[in-house]
Amino acid sequence: MSVTTAPEATISPSGTPHEPRSTTRSAAAARERTAVLEDLIARSPGEYRVLTGDRPTGALHLGHLLGTVANRVRLQDLGVEVFLIVADYQVITDRDDAGDLPGTVREVLLDYLAAGLDPERSTVFTHSAVPALNQLLLPFLSLVTVAELERNPTVKAEAEAALLRQKRGISGLLFTYPVHQAADILFCHGNLVPVGVDQLPHLEITRTVARRFNQRYAAAQPYFPEPDALIAPSTTVLGDDGRRMSKSRGNALELRASEDETAAFFRRARTDADRVITYEPERRPEIANLLQIGAYFTGTSPEALADEVGAVGAGRLKAVVTEAVVEGLRPLRARRRKLLGRAPAPRGGARPGQRPGERDSGPHAGRRPRADGDAVLSTGCRGRGPGAPYLP
Ligand code: TRP
Repeated sequence: MSVTTAPEATISPSGTPHEPRSTTRSAAAARERTAVLEDLIARSPGEYRVLTGDRPTGALHLGHLLGTVANRVRLQDLGVEVFLIVADYQVITDRDDAGDLPGTVREVLLDYLAAGLDPERSTVFTHSAVPALNQLLLPFLSLVTVAELERNPTVKAEAEAALLRQKRGISGLLFTYPVHQAADILFCHGNLVPVGVDQLPHLEITRTVARRFNQRYAAAQPYFPEPDALIAPSTTVLGDDGRRMSKSRGNALELRASEDETAAFFRRARTDADRVITYEPERRPEIANLLQIGAYFTGTSPEALADEVGAVGAGRLKAVVTEAVVEGLRPLRARRRKLLGRAPAPRGGARPGQRPGERDSGPHAGRRPRADGDAVLSTGCRGRGPGAPYLP
């Protein structure tokens, strides 16, 4: 992943611009901080609450698992409280048609549970299930300037993409998306956000919102945490066309795919003509991608896998990787099939205002979701009140 050196503004609480920092420098700092955080997490996981999530634009794929989902399961298993937002109101930030939202939310939920997110320990919710979260957008918008949003590199990149795709200007929703994301993180007092370095500017807005809110309205005792970025190990999985795996590109291997579909996916995957398999990510990205995937599922390193496969050609490598993925995903797929037999029933949302480590005393106390996939999530799909409609 490349990191730009576009100036990232830092604004003092009074709104006076400081010297701009480069994103590269802040990425390096965030990486250093991540190493410190990992150490702190290992020692006192109960101090941390992760907030992260996905927009429900389709079932999750292999890129999600290796890129983010496995890391969330790891944090959960370390004892960190994990809050996951299935960001249904944000689907229309970059498209007009939200598709079958209740259906897609359900697929994402099934993938989370199948991947090992345990509803006894982690909390999954949608925007539509927690109206108060969305309400926070209003006061939060008063805490940032238009100029700050305008120079957010992620907003800029997304605006350019929207322009290319839809040939029209950036919507107000896309423009204020980082502030809505701040509401996602802060409403539940999340203090840890696993992100890629490209997402750092977004998180900077959340930190700004928290800091300014505290200064203006809670000077005596800070109310919101300034969340830390936990830089995730950057794993970019390629699709069968050699580009980054993504649902919208139609090049993804969904986690829910069958074994035959998995084999067909890897048969289609691009390789090169060199019969000797070596791990050279720069020179041979497609081979390196297959080696990384295979290594992930067999618990070895890409280099070791390359040595093991040797001079037998890409066809053999594909067979080895297919086998590793089919075996590696077998438990996940079995759990998914089991869960599919049970329809999730709606329930109340997460517990706003509760801080990490705090005991549950809200209206949902004692009603933690159950591990069997029942009553895990209020998708707002059925029986939703007037306050939480699905956007068109
Ligand atoms: N924007 C994320 C995505 O790409 C989903 C998301 C919504 C999120 N709110 C968040 C991630 C807050 C981290 C923190 O799908």
